[in-house]
Amino acid sequence: MEIIIRKTIKDCADIAAKIVAKYIREKNNPVIGLATGTTPLKLYKQLIAMYNAGIISFKNSTTFNLDEYVGLAPSHSQSYHRYMNENLFNFIDIPKDRIFIPDGMAEDLRQTCIDYEAKIKACKGIDLQILGIGSNGHIGFNEPMGSLSSRTWIKILTQNTIQDNSRFFDNAEKVPRHVITMGIGTIMEARHCMVLACGWKKAKAVKAMIEEAVTAKWPASALQFHQRTTAVIDEAAASLLSHKEQYAWVEKNQLDWQSYETPSKGK
Ligand code: GLP
Repeated sequence: MEIIIRKTIKDCADIAAKIVAKYIREKNNPVIGLATGTTPLKLYKQLIAMYNAGIISFKNSTTFNLDEYVGLAPSHSQSYHRYMNENLFNFIDIPKDRIFIPDGMAEDLRQTCIDYEAKIKACKGIDLQILGIGSNGHIGFNEPMGSLSSRTWIKILTQNTIQDNSRFFDNAEKVPRHVITMGIGTIMEARHCMVLACGWKKAKAVKAMIEEAVTAKWPASALQFHQRTTAVIDEAAASLLSHKEQYAWVEKNQLDWQSYETPSKGK
C-alpha cells in the first residue's frame, strides 16, 4: 500500500484532489468511484475549485457512489443522493445520466444490486475508487465480519456505525438499519483505490488497515491485497502507525513520474 501522511485534513484534500484530477485530465472517459461522509468534503470543495478555475472538466466522466441508505428518498436530508448533489454534482459539469448511486428506494432491492454491478462492468470498471473508513474499519458500508469478497448487496449496519452516523440524524433510532453498498469484492476490482482517513477517531482502523493482519474484523485490511491502494491520512489518523519513517522514505525517493504533487506527472 502506498501511504501518504500529511499534517491536516486540508493538506490531505489537496493531494487527494491532485490524484483525482490526474484521472479526470488524462483519461478519455474516466470512471470515478465516490464516497460520502465528512472526510471527503474538503476534497469535493477542492475539485469544484479546480473546475471553476478551468483546470478540470467532468463532462466525459462517469461516477459510481459506494453506498446509500435503504428507505431514504433522494430528497431526504441524509440521503447520499442529496449529499452528492449538495457537495459536488450541483457545482460541476458532469452529465446527469453519467451519475450512478445505488437506489435505496428500489422496489426490488436485490435486482437493483445486481443491476449496479452490471452497470459498473458495462463502463469497463472503476479507474479510481475514493474511499473513507469507518471507525470500525468499514469501507463503503461493509461492516466487520462480512465477506471480504462480497458484491454490491443489502447490508445491515452494526450498532457502532448507527451510533457514529446518528450525529447526522435526530437520534440513533432514525438511522436506517439497512443499506446498499458495493461489496469488498466490487471495491477490490477498482484499478486504483484511494482511502482518505483523518482524525484521531480513525487511528485504530488505519493501523489495522495498513499494518495488521488481514481480517474480516477490519474490512479495510482487505486492501492489503489490492493491486494499487493509496492511503492519504492526516497525522492524527496516522498516530498509531509504526512505520511512518518508511512511508516518508518511500515518498521522498519516488521517481518523478510517481509523484502526485505535479498534476501532469504520476502514473
Ligand atoms: C459512512 C460511509 C462510509 C464512510 C464512513 C466514514 O458510514 N458509508 O463510506 O467512509 O462513514 O465517514 P466519515 O468520513 O464521516 O467519518
